[in-house]
Amino acid sequence: MSFKKDFMWGAATASYQVEGAAKEDGRGLSVWDVFCEKQGKIKDKSNGDIACDQYHRYEEDIELMAKMGLKAYRFSLSWSRILPEGTGKVNEKGIEYYSNLIDCLLAHGIEPFVTLYHWDLPYTLHKRGGWLNEESPEWFAEYAKIAAEYFSDRVKYFFTFNEPQCFVGLGYLSDIHAPGINGPDRDAFTAAHHVLKAHGRAVQVLREYGKQPLKIGFAPAGKYTYPKTAAPKDVEAAKKMMFDNIALEDWAWSVAWWSDPIFLGKYPEAVCEKYKDILPAFTQEDMDLIHQPIDFVGQNIYDGRMVACGDDGEPYFVPDYIGAPYTTINSPVTPEILYWMPKFLYERYGKPVIITESGMANVDIVSADGQVHDGSRIAYLESYLQNLCKAADEVPIDGYFLWSLLDNFEWAHGYQGRFGLIYVDFRTQKRIPKDSAKWYQTVIATNGGCLHR
Ligand code: BGC
Repeated sequence: MSFKKDFMWGAATASYQVEGAAKEDGRGLSVWDVFCEKQGKIKDKSNGDIACDQYHRYEEDIELMAKMGLKAYRFSLSWSRILPEGTGKVNEKGIEYYSNLIDCLLAHGIEPFVTLYHWDLPYTLHKRGGWLNEESPEWFAEYAKIAAEYFSDRVKYFFTFNEPQCFVGLGYLSDIHAPGINGPDRDAFTAAHHVLKAHGRAVQVLREYGKQPLKIGFAPAGKYTYPKTAAPKDVEAAKKMMFDNIALEDWAWSVAWWSDPIFLGKYPEAVCEKYKDILPAFTQEDMDLIHQPIDFVGQNIYDGRMVACGDDGEPYFVPDYIGAPYTTINSPVTPEILYWMPKFLYERYGKPVIITESGMANVDIVSADGQVHDGSRIAYLESYLQNLCKAADEVPIDGYFLWSLLDNFEWAHGYQGRFGLIYVDFRTQKRIPKDSAKWYQTVIATNGGCLHR
């Protein structure tokens, strides 16, 4: 079992979660700045105003990445730092920041992977209707063009969107995330369609204005399943449950609703039939726009649910065993998902897979020796990566981005969900690489060889 020779070992973050400097150097407001001010939305009443202060500390962070031997760093651009009003005038200071970050990464031999959108829509655009506005794909195209013009001489890898499932599902269908609209499915379907068109436009623009041949993908989430056994009937049951059996309250979380149009050029028929009364009109022109060729299947994968085939031939969810492990933000620990999902994705979409996020929220405590001994994270990562390695023998897998480089602002959980390889003391901004960072360094240095013991 092995990973390919040039496997991309990386770590990921997102602008609002790590940058801070929210009111500096001309950055405009995003929906998250405003959402955090609402009563009761963020568990510890915090926000991303300072976060990990990466805006001022990126050099120190990159030093730490280099020490770990990271081959790649996935980060997102803050749209409102680059275009404070969402469209129109470019903020040179914002461009300068990302340019410096990119140069510093390259100087340390670390490949930048840029995500254009990790949920922080400029607030001015939200006031114009946000993703419900039919002009939104063009706003996004304008922004993507600027990213191509300023950064694509040095950045080869771009992702359009991070987890549209989340910012539409939790932001337009429930008010757990920004912009906090508890709207009807009909509207959320419209927003989702605009997001997919925006993805298509961004791919077109990146290809047109890219200063070198670019590798482009997106980084969706989803509700995932894996089979109880490798028997074909269980494997089919898991796939059916994930791709076909989509409940009304779950469509926004489905893999197929977002990825089928992008990779296959059509929305899943069974789902369209089920929701035909509330879907917006999809023209062939729209579908062609969404279906731009992209280079890999990115997927953020944290956990899944076990499925088996019942005696009646129908799939069912296998209940958890008593005492099954859960992380501190209540995600089940299911390492098998990193074996099965890449296989399912490759089979359905036929492109090399990149795990764009995976990782664990933990209670990390600084010990008396000043170190953070996060043994349970190492156990978690080891079992997940062993599964990924097994999958890499069967289907092409190009990279893995651990979430996250640093403990950071975990959205509605505030700073309570620590995901980092590097501990951050948010009182002082002191960084302490955890035991898992040293362990990951060995994983990278041995290209996963140390996982087999
Ligand atoms: C998101 C990250 C988030 C992580 C852990 C993903 O849903 O892309 O921004 O911090 O999972 O919850």
